[in-house]
Amino acid sequence: MIYITTLILISSIVTKDDNKGITKMEVENFKIYGKSSIGKNAIIGERVMIGYPAADILKIAASSGKSLDDMEFKGAVIGDNAVIRSNSTIYADVQIGNNLRTGHNILIREKTKIGNDVLIGTNTIIDGHTTIGNNVSIQGNVYIPLNVTIEDKVFIGPCAVLTNDKYPVRKKTDLPGPILRRGASIGANATLLPEVEIGEGAMVAAGALVSKDVPPWKLAVGFPAKIIELPEELKILNNI
Ligand SMILES: CC(C)(COP(=O)(O)OP(=O)(O)OC[C@H]1O[C@@H](n2cnc3c(N)ncnc32)[C@H](O)[C@@H]1OP(=O)(O)O)[C@@H](O)C(=O)NCCC(=O)NCCS
Repeated sequence: MIYITTLILISSIVTKDDNKGITKMEVENFKIYGKSSIGKNAIIGERVMIGYPAADILKIAASSGKSLDDMEFKGAVIGDNAVIRSNSTIYADVQIGNNLRTGHNILIREKTKIGNDVLIGTNTIIDGHTTIGNNVSIQGNVYIPLNVTIEDKVFIGPCAVLTNDKYPVRKKTDLPGPILRRGASIGANATLLPEVEIGEGAMVAAGALVSKDVPPWKLAVGFPAKIIELPEELKILNNI
């Protein structure tokens, strides 16, 4: 059941400067920062923050004593028909297409680009500098670090963890994240080590630890994952 009093339906495009169509109560329910815009027919839950600035802008605000509301900076741009559930935060310098749907309490950090028809489950963290294609389904509690590429029609199961730092706080690296090619599927609780490439249509089993590239249309199973044949009937593109 949806408690409509906790959701705001916005039928026209909204930016920070033209909140005229929204009542005071509604504006207080969520916050838009910087030059952000949300397309038509958005449904936005309580305590959602859109266009929240990264550390550089926060430092300028703190040192100048200015309110973030009085500062000009690049916001988040979100397309039409977005459903963004309560307590979610989308940073400034994020671009998202149409038909975004999120669970509660998701985080999308700066310099993330997301296509159309993307689902992001509750508590998922997208830590920024990442590109996500169209028709992608990311379930709850997924961790996506900096520098990840996720192509169209990818499915990521709950609690999957992607990594980008092979020797954390011991060696300096460029933090290369995994690359998930078109139509790849990642099982629940899988861990992908930095820089691995999951090939087109490949599948990663639940709980697998993927330390090497997975060729297209193969199955990676186990800890560490071994590559085996994907059953013939699974050699079809994800229906997302
Ligand atoms: C990997 C997977 C696709 C295999 O399915 P399957 O081909 O039907 O395999 P079966 O169930 O017939 O099992 C075959 C063997 O693999 C083992 N196996 C199955 N899944 C496994 C997994 N994730 N990791 C390790 N071994 C696994 C089985 O125990 C069985 O072993 P056995 O031959 O010694 O008895 C499936 O088990 C899986 O992990 N799917 C992902 C589920 C998921 O995370 N969904 C996310 C949305 S909720």
